[in-house]
Amino acid sequence: MIRYPDTLGDDIVTARQRANLTQEELADRTGLSVRSIRNLESARVTQPRPATVRLLRDVLGLPAHPAPSARIRPMQLPLDIPGFIGRAAQLTQLDRLLDRGPRRMSTVVVSVLSGRPGIGKTALALHWAHRRAVRFADGVLHVHLRGSDPAKPAVTPSEALGCLIEALDVPGVVPSGLAARAGLYRSALAGRRMLLMLDDARDADQVRPLLPGAPGCMVVVTSRDRLTSLIAGEAAHPVVVDELTADEAWELLRIRLGAHRLTAEREAAQKIVTDCAGVPRALAVAAAHAATQPRLPLAELAW
Ligand SMILES: Nc1ncnc2c1ncn2[C@@H]1O[C@H](COP(=O)(O)OP(=O)(O)O)[C@@H](O)[C@H]1O
Ligand SMILES: [Mg+2]
Repeated sequence: MIRYPDTLGDDIVTARQRANLTQEELADRTGLSVRSIRNLESARVTQPRPATVRLLRDVLGLPAHPAPSARIRPMQLPLDIPGFIGRAAQLTQLDRLLDRGPRRMSTVVVSVLSGRPGIGKTALALHWAHRRAVRFADGVLHVHLRGSDPAKPAVTPSEALGCLIEALDVPGVVPSGLAARAGLYRSALAGRRMLLMLDDARDADQVRPLLPGAPGCMVVVTSRDRLTSLIAGEAAHPVVVDELTADEAWELLRIRLGAHRLTAEREAAQKIVTDCAGVPRALAVAAAHAATQPRLPLAELAW
């Protein structure tokens, strides 16, 4: 049996839309039923008969077999958070955006994950991106925009574009001006299905030049700012990242310190949960102190 890639359905949608065909027109040209095409595009059918794929290939120019790309598929995500907790609602929200936009190649979907420092914006974006990376056939790009680093200046759009262009493996020299870089970057992204993670954006002006021009990509931005002007102007979707519940905070400590230590000092652990007020970074720091001093009573950590 030929094993087709997980992206077969998405590849058919992409190729069909590039060829400017409706599902009905594609059915007409291939002799397949509209239902078969729908089933393939929605990934209800993932292992079609080779004859079906041959018909689609002839009309749409799909690759005969899952051939490895000559180009490196960028996968720039830093490590996922081990023991990720909660965020079911936000993960579902991001999944819905993914199912709506880039899959149909109809628009660029931009989501803005906002919330206070240490609340878990980066962790959430990374966790979701790792889970869904396979849906982006052309890869995943990641830029740390350093929008809230007190020690270093924020990355300029031009610097960020330089890094992105390099990651896209565009031949030739990277041009120097912002407009030229933006143009080259958009050209390189056209027709590709990529996920772009822009972490820790300072403001909308830093993000805007980095948005792809053609549909097919999804952008996940994290920022302390709500980036309202991006939501108003670019129809970005807000995803609010808020405090963990007390149960989730307990779970975070349990994963990092072990159930035994928590139950042995239940009251002190409870106080850490209360004092950290659902902010994951505070919980992670408390857990790190406790983990590096295994004999220290948790009561001495609770402040
Ligand atoms: N959902 C989560 N599950 C487990 N740990 C988390 C979660 N969210 C955040 N953390 C922990 O809190 C730390 C700070 O989160 P981070 O995403 O960097 O915050 P932000 O980007 O909002 O400033 C992370 O390094 C991680 O250790
Ligand atoms: Mg962050």
